[in-house]
Amino acid sequence: MDGLTMMLRKRGGALRLLVAVAAAAMLACTVGRLISVGGRLGWQQNVNYTDWASHQHLYMGDWLMFRFDKTMYNVLEVNQTNYEQCNDHEFINNITRGGRDVFQLTKARPYYFLSSGGYCYNGMKVAINVEVYVPAPEPASQNNSPLKTSSRVVLSIVSAIATSIWWHGL
Ligand SMILES: *[C@@H]1O[C@H](CO)[C@@H](O)[C@H](O)[C@H]1NC(C)=O
Ligand SMILES: *[C@@H]1O[C@H](CO)[C@@H](O)[C@H](O)[C@H]1NC(C)=O
Ligand SMILES: *[C@@H]1O[C@H](CO)[C@@H](O)[C@H](O)[C@H]1NC(C)=O
Repeated sequence: MDGLTMMLRKRGGALRLLVAVAAAAMLACTVGRLISVGGRLGWQQNVNYTDWASHQHLYMGDWLMFRFDKTMYNVLEVNQTNYEQCNDHEFINNITRGGRDVFQLTKARPYYFLSSGGYCYNGMKVAINVEVYVPAPEPASQNNSPLKTSSRVVLSIVSAIATSIWWHGL
């Protein structure tokens, strides 16, 4: 085996590893984060969800988890008008299952949820604005979230692969 063949074999192995790492990293990103609505308080009465939502940054692909007492409450996705009026009759999605129920935010738009049974009038409603994730420009500031960092890692891995394929072929 000559030097060139050995060199190419080594490159092939490194490339396969790179592809595997990138695939795993991209999977981790598209899966999104799991955000518990209301934090440790969950989905119940006497929580100000407007205040809670104002401290969140939610991105496409993230999941909401509603934790609640299913014997009293439910979770319905509604439109803006029905959110404002606490109207539970023309809901878009019924998210209620067992009381630890998840919902993926697949679009960059506002989402509205409420509980029926009159609890909406007691504040059991939440409006969530979902953003498209845009990586922070370089140079990065100090307060990077893990999400931003992992996206940047994926970007650099992807560009490394592209460069590698460009130079060596697969
Ligand atoms: C909930 O919080 C928002 C934002 O902090 C505030 O404007 C609003 O008055 C609060 N609502 C209630 C019912 O306390
Ligand atoms: C919400 O849906 C109701 C009917 O279910 C409709 O009358 C209303 O215009 C809708 N509001 C928005 C903001 O789409
Ligand atoms: C929502 O779904 C749950 C579970 O399937 C069901 O028990 C409940 O009646 C539904 N609620 C509405 C308002 O359709």
